[in-house]
Amino acid sequence: MAKLIYSAIASLDGYVADEDGNFDWAAPDEEVHTFINDLDRPLGTYLYGRRMYETMVGWETDHTLADQSPLMRDFAQIWQAANKIVYSGTLEAVSTARTRIEREFDPEAVRRMKALAGRDLIVGGPDLAAQAFKAGLVDECHLFVAPVVVGGGNRSLPDDVCVKLELLDERRFGSGMVYLYYRTRRTR
Ligand SMILES: NC(=O)c1ccc[n+]([C@@H]2O[C@H](COP(=O)([O-])OP(=O)(O)OC[C@H]3O[C@@H](n4cnc5c(N)ncnc54)[C@H](OP(=O)(O)O)[C@@H]3O)[C@@H](O)[C@H]2O)c1
Repeated sequence: MAKLIYSAIASLDGYVADEDGNFDWAAPDEEVHTFINDLDRPLGTYLYGRRMYETMVGWETDHTLADQSPLMRDFAQIWQAANKIVYSGTLEAVSTARTRIEREFDPEAVRRMKALAGRDLIVGGPDLAAQAFKAGLVDECHLFVAPVVVGGGNRSLPDDVCVKLELLDERRFGSGMVYLYYRTRRTR
């Protein structure tokens, strides 16, 4: 059975974006990006909330992103090769290949996907991921903690979910970013 992984880059106080929607401080440097490329390379499918999809779509539609460096080109190729499911009530059409829209988040459908998939799935952003946490669907977390406190904004983890975590690995980077790799053990 494939795993569903929640992946996020968050501030130390647990936000993926600050109150102004800014997340410049989360931009991975070359060392972190290389690491993320290798984490994402084996994935089969991204499950995206519409807002996260809109921040990622440039990896296919804006060639200037991939043209920045071989590292960025590598990520663009990884991203384009994976399947994408975008959850949205408002999005009329998608602008990337291998992408479909789902109008509702159906936990049973995701459970079936996990059972049938040959490669792991990843879920983001936090609004969509909260629903996956609540349904007990998230098997692992790849959390990158940026060395910054932003004081408020969009929380990386939901308020009303309790999950026990087993630390499987960790790593520190030269930028001060820290990677925490957890397996989830649901408590209620
Ligand atoms: N830290 C970083 O590295 C980083 C990187 C990129 C982005 N970000 C930030 O991450 C955040 C994006 O995450 P988010 O939590 O705001 O949003 P999200 O989870 O990516 O997307 C939320 C949207 O997904 C759709 N959706 C959610 N649940 C659904 C359901 N059950 N059925 C159908 N559609 C559903 C809705 O779209 P509709 O409104 O279309 O119905 C909803 O508005 C933003 O704050 C962005 O700035 C941070």
